[in-house]
Amino acid sequence: MKLAVVGGGSTYTPELIDGFARLRDELPLSEITLVDPDERRLELVGGMARRMLARAGHPAKVSTTTVVEEGVAGAGAVLLQLRVGGQAARNVDETLPLECGCIGQETTGAGGLAKALRTVPIVLDIAEKVRQHAPGAWIVDFTNPVGIVTKALLDAGHRAIGLCNVAIGFQRRFAAGLGVTPDRISLGHVGLNHLTWERSVELDGVDVLPRILDEHGEEIAGSVGLPVELLRHLGVIPSYYLRYFYEHDLVVEEQRTKPTRAAEVAAMEATLLDMYGDPTVDTKPELLEKRGGAFYSEAAVALIASLVNDRGDVQVVNTRNDGTLPFLDDDAVIEVPATIGAHGATPLPVAPVEPLYRGLIGHVSAYETLAIDAAVRGGEELVKDALLCHPLIGQASLSGDLARRLIDANRAFLPWA
Ligand code: G6P
Ligand code: MN
Ligand code: MN
Repeated sequence: MKLAVVGGGSTYTPELIDGFARLRDELPLSEITLVDPDERRLELVGGMARRMLARAGHPAKVSTTTVVEEGVAGAGAVLLQLRVGGQAARNVDETLPLECGCIGQETTGAGGLAKALRTVPIVLDIAEKVRQHAPGAWIVDFTNPVGIVTKALLDAGHRAIGLCNVAIGFQRRFAAGLGVTPDRISLGHVGLNHLTWERSVELDGVDVLPRILDEHGEEIAGSVGLPVELLRHLGVIPSYYLRYFYEHDLVVEEQRTKPTRAAEVAAMEATLLDMYGDPTVDTKPELLEKRGGAFYSEAAVALIASLVNDRGDVQVVNTRNDGTLPFLDDDAVIEVPATIGAHGATPLPVAPVEPLYRGLIGHVSAYETLAIDAAVRGGEELVKDALLCHPLIGQASLSGDLARRLIDANRAFLPWA
């Protein structure tokens, strides 16, 4: 099978290649095409990918192209991992909201909306090309904001599933802590992308979450940046993105004095690209482990393998709600465990969600609908509405002010502005 990676010039790509090489029996590939507008990156990352596969004795051919139509032609699956505007645009997402007293983050709050406005039109355009040149191919979306981008793709009738590494990261970490293999751990993972809680952690079908909180509470609370008392009181493990909600003002204060994540990542990317240009480097650099995307290659391989081989196993993905969370629209996109087969993803039933989580999920899901509307139709009014609907913004003059600033700062990427 041919697999196309759009945004293949990403410094993350060797992480993906490493997964394809390690898990080759699960997902046999004959060709990997890297698609990217940046020719220099294609050359560096493409060269690195070829050396890694050669070292692993993997037979896949690596091709590169700047032309989407060419890259996706004949592919069985297309992975989207692009970042419109690169780390420079991300830096704006992380700093501009701070001027108005709001958190700066690339997927949450006003920064996440700016990213959605830049990204949704481009992804929809790419998906049309997939429809024409690779009919029937699955689109696996890693491009953030994953919930919004996946819903936009599904609304436009594409065969898409959204993927994030938060769940697989927890699964791997809990397994390691318990000294068992990850396949024995099932998560009671519920919510929207980057707005999730683990309400149970089953080891061979027995819920060990209370034991995990007892024995490893401090360590886990530290890693999600929340007080251990909160986790023990709630009896759940929120993802670290919940910190932007539960500790909003504290995060704003921290962000005002710290370098941005975009600046940190830009520095890492420069070093990584140098390594990829070195013909003697043929293994995944350790530096990649400092990126947030740990295990994303494993999540991608597992998902694509189940889609193309109709495996019917359970994985956490972003897909249509279809009644799973009865308090949301059927066409909302949720992030939950689902059975994955040739037909796509079917969410497993979810136990009734407590008001504490249900409220926030409903609120953010409504915001996501308005964010897509703003991204597809454009205009300051719709951007303002989406911000007014966001639980971290929600005030009229603040929404107007932020809308104008976001549009000004992102004008070069907004077809309608
Ligand atoms: C996690 C999230 C991704 C996000 C990444 C950022 O992996 O799930 O959605 O893109 O972190 O990592 P970075 O190294 O770019 O900060
Ligand atoms: Mn993610
Ligand atoms: Mn421990």
